[in-house]
Amino acid sequence: MIKKQDFLIDKAKRASHNGHISCVVWLFGLSGSGKSAIANSLEKKLFELGNHTYVLDGDNTRLGLNKDLGFTAVERLENVRRAAEVANLMAEAGLIVICSFITPYEEQRELVKQILINQHSLQVFVDCSIETCEKRDPKGLYEKARSGEIKNFTGISDSFERPADPDIIVNTENFSLNECVLLVAEGILRLSTQNKI
Ligand code: ADX
Repeated sequence: MIKKQDFLIDKAKRASHNGHISCVVWLFGLSGSGKSAIANSLEKKLFELGNHTYVLDGDNTRLGLNKDLGFTAVERLENVRRAAEVANLMAEAGLIVICSFITPYEEQRELVKQILINQHSLQVFVDCSIETCEKRDPKGLYEKARSGEIKNFTGISDSFERPADPDIIVNTENFSLNECVLLVAEGILRLSTQNKI
């Protein structure tokens, strides 16, 4: 039996020390939709304003923490479970955590919500058609997926379930990077004002 251990320095104390709330922004969408670009630019803006931030990115965590996982449905679920648990700890530590994971299934997004139940959090759907993502193909992965070199590729040989009711939708085909970043930043600001921090 394990009981939660509390410590004297809690999240509220960290928030007043830092001068901002901690929260988790979970960006999800197809490969090539623009998640990393938004994460990058959003973090830079927040950081330059003096906020304490970190980006958790699917490619990066798959090089370390999650390097034992592939792309079956079960492994993708475990992939985001671990990432969400890390994000939860980072938010407890007072950071604004920006997560960038394809998170293609509703089941994964529900799990993320459950894990982050005690945090301020936003699920942001980075919307972009598969045709445009495939045209952009920044990592050459769509080409490899079409040729069969990569299996279970989201949008080609594996499903992406469009979200029913995300907190925010940013469409990277119709809006500029800066406009998308501002929409997410406004969401963070709303979390702050709602929580009077
Ligand atoms: S998730 O589905 O479990 O959320 P995650 O965001 O961690 O995926 O990893 C996606 C990244 O892995 C993509 O950005 C891409 O570079 C790479 N990748 C390699 N194989 C695949 C695949 N079969 N499907 C999707 N992405 C893949």
